[in-house]
Amino acid sequence: MNNKVKVGIIGCGSICDIYFQNLTKTFVNTEVVACADLLPERAEAKAAEFGVPKACSVKALLADPDVAIVVNLTVPKAHAAVALAAIRAGKHVHGEKPLGISRKEGLAIMQAAAKAGVRVGSAPDTFLGGGIQTCRKLIDDGWIGRPVAAHAFMLCHGHETWHPSPEFYYERGGGPMLDMGPYYLTALVNLIGPITRVTGSARATFPTRTITSQPKFGKVVKVETPTHIAGILDFANGAVGTLVTSFDIWGHTLPCIEIYGTEGSISVPDPNGFGGLVRVKRHDTAEWMAMPLTHGYAENSRGIGVADMAAAIAGKRRHRASGELAMHVLDVMLAFEDASTSGRAVMIRSACQQPAPLPLGLRNGQLD
Ligand SMILES: NC(=O)c1ccc[n+]([C@@H]2O[C@H](COP(=O)([O-])OP(=O)(O)OC[C@H]3O[C@@H](n4cnc5c(N)ncnc54)[C@H](O)[C@@H]3O)[C@@H](O)[C@H]2O)c1
Repeated sequence: MNNKVKVGIIGCGSICDIYFQNLTKTFVNTEVVACADLLPERAEAKAAEFGVPKACSVKALLADPDVAIVVNLTVPKAHAAVALAAIRAGKHVHGEKPLGISRKEGLAIMQAAAKAGVRVGSAPDTFLGGGIQTCRKLIDDGWIGRPVAAHAFMLCHGHETWHPSPEFYYERGGGPMLDMGPYYLTALVNLIGPITRVTGSARATFPTRTITSQPKFGKVVKVETPTHIAGILDFANGAVGTLVTSFDIWGHTLPCIEIYGTEGSISVPDPNGFGGLVRVKRHDTAEWMAMPLTHGYAENSRGIGVADMAAAIAGKRRHRASGELAMHVLDVMLAFEDASTSGRAVMIRSACQQPAPLPLGLRNGQLD
């Protein structure tokens, strides 16, 4: 009997290929049975490319009784509407990041799902990759002692040089915090724990951006969101974090994430990837030590959060890339701008549990 969990993908744009690939081929417990996009030709092309039996309208996908999990790969401002429609149709839903572009949207999704008895999951799931799972194991095993502080930096000059439709990065709901903050904050919450307080300052340096990628070369986009956001995070366990996200910086020499503990420091690989170099410097070592990865999924495993949700449904356990985690991350991200605007520290009201680490020794494609 085929007991794979049946997935329907909504949104067949730039990021979808890796989801189609992993959810049809890599993970043993998922299969993609339908896909949809506002532009039907996009869904038809992906169905043909990845052997998906049905390309259809969003409405038809949501009405398909075979679809158990809807994977929402639409643009951020559509995330909430698509997720709510999926929940209304009785589907579990896993979306690209961010969960929504406001607390109201995020809460509406969480409340509707609780009422309907369905699960909510969200990207990023990169924290389930071998790089960050190795860091989690090293921290849990005491290699750096108790976390004292963390620095995290995501600094670049935006996406209009390469993305074919980069407008959404500069609309409300875009910007470097809502776009890239989820990777950094999800990694930090996974490694250190939940956040209780945020302060920060934000600015938009350039009022417009000019697209230099094809096919929209030369189009000028109005910037509606801060593009440089710097802040301080207080973790529930007392650690103090610094996070800077920017689309205004041409070059830098700062790390992605470093965590400093009472016994040593750990250099965490790029949280927008699955593998990478993990290094530790302890109080009793002269040099930084490159550590072997303890976990698999070091290749691009986007969709692992969906496969983990599928395994969690079967195993009646919590899934790791959860809506609760994404809601906390959204709450924290929005707090930076709130703190900047109000000139005050913002207390974080949402709570979440640190997701369970992945077990050691998983075969590729399996989650339990
Ligand atoms: N492009 C990347 O490298 C990348 C990487 C990681 C995450 N993401 C995230 O993935 C999501 C999608 O990004 P993208 O780069 O693929 O965007 P995109 O614009 O290339 O693709 C989005 C697709 O969704 C469709 N769509 C929009 N609204 C819809 C709706 N209401 N119903 C059905 N279809 C709809 C669009 O027609 C388009 O084909 C975003 O949340 C983004 O943050 C993108």
